[in-house]
Amino acid sequence: MKITDPCGGLISFEGIDGAGKSTQIARACAWLRGHRREVVQTREPGGTPLGEKLRVLLLHDAMHLETEALLMFAARREHLAVCIEPALAAGKWVVTDRFSDATYAYQVGGRGLDADKCRHLEQWVHPHRQPDLTFLFDLDPAIAAARVAKAGAAPDRFEREQLEFFTQVRAAYLARAASAGDRFCVIDAAQSPEAIGAQVDAALSARFAP
Ligand code: TYD
Repeated sequence: MKITDPCGGLISFEGIDGAGKSTQIARACAWLRGHRREVVQTREPGGTPLGEKLRVLLLHDAMHLETEALLMFAARREHLAVCIEPALAAGKWVVTDRFSDATYAYQVGGRGLDADKCRHLEQWVHPHRQPDLTFLFDLDPAIAAARVAKAGAAPDRFEREQLEFFTQVRAAYLARAASAGDRFCVIDAAQSPEAIGAQVDAALSARFAP
């Protein structure tokens, strides 16, 4: 897709907690705006008034793992209907902090949800929509945990999980990236923010610059 195309695009950012997505999301939005694209920055779970309410439940209330997956996809259905699809139809670019790859990584990889159930939900909720580009920030879970601890905020239900959980989440992300062809750009998140930013810019230029 060239930068001069009238249609927008969907870019997602993924990685285990503490992998350092936030700085790079801001950078990608700046790159797109610098190339005269209208950008909607959003996140999952969340991105809509209802989705943000579901986010509070998901991040703080204990629940069955299938309830968790269903609520993730309920929030995603709303996010697509109210935010993502209208923005794309208007020619905007949507940059989302997480999308369905996170459900494969956290609920299937981390929690052990049946992968077929996740595929069914994905087929139901967005049969014809996948990100045009997904950045996966790959990082050793021990380094990521140290970053989360250093940030000092009270950890949510996911951030309180053990290293073993994040090891499984990381492996599931990498397996998904390996099976998804060139949709993914996997970045070594142990590098400096400047080095990572240069790779983000390079990937955006390679795919979307005129
Ligand atoms: P995130 O926005 O990365 O958290 P933070 O604001 O702390 O940076 O994501 C919230 C959490 O939700 C994160 O721990 C991963 C989890 N999550 C899932 O388990 N499944 C999903 O499908 C999504 C979208 C998020």
